[in-house]
Amino acid sequence: MIITKSECQTIKNNNHDMNTNKENTSKFEFPTLPYSYDALEPYIDKTTMEIHYSKHHRAYYDNFMKAIAGTEAENMCIKDIFANISKYPVAVRNNGGGYYNHKLFWENMAPKGENGEISTELKEAIIKRFGSLEEFEKLFEEAAKTRFGSGWAWLILDENKDLQVVSTPNQDNPLMDIADKKGTPLLALDVWEHAYYLKYQNRRPDYVNAFWNVVNWTVVSSRFEKTMQK
Ligand SMILES: [Fe+2]
Repeated sequence: MIITKSECQTIKNNNHDMNTNKENTSKFEFPTLPYSYDALEPYIDKTTMEIHYSKHHRAYYDNFMKAIAGTEAENMCIKDIFANISKYPVAVRNNGGGYYNHKLFWENMAPKGENGEISTELKEAIIKRFGSLEEFEKLFEEAAKTRFGSGWAWLILDENKDLQVVSTPNQDNPLMDIADKKGTPLLALDVWEHAYYLKYQNRRPDYVNAFWNVVNWTVVSSRFEKTMQK
């Protein structure tokens, strides 16, 4: 297999929002949830959080570990795996994506009132790219609401350091070589039914709208600034 090296060195220096001590040594560990199950109430309910984290995320992690057991991927940086994901079995793509995407998702949320503010740098970049914060939110909501079936909505920085709003199916992400639009994730929103069905049933738009109350802008801004410096 020809491995395209990505930015793993940079990940190794990025411990703030990725909890990546583990990735420093290429050991994948199941991350601790950064808050209690009920911390994002009423926007995301306690039962959903508990099942989502302890069952769904855990299953992706366990199955990812099984899928790479005894292979060279066990000792690789996850970004290098994603950069070559088309060469791996689908179990690595689905479960590796599920493992990583949920880590990002938990970390880019925080209880309302503790979720910080968008940095001046990111705010200016969003206004420059999308016209206004409101326009960006509209685009992001549209990406989340119109993703057919299961998947994710993202704010990313592409290879030209331009902000883009994209969505991916299933557990794919913009770091994967199969992504329509590639880039570094800054903000992730899980739009699988398991993320919202208990509270919102089929009303995905209500869940998407509620998400803004719990976006951790401190983490998203930090990801932006670190990626811009690469
Ligand atoms: Fe999920």
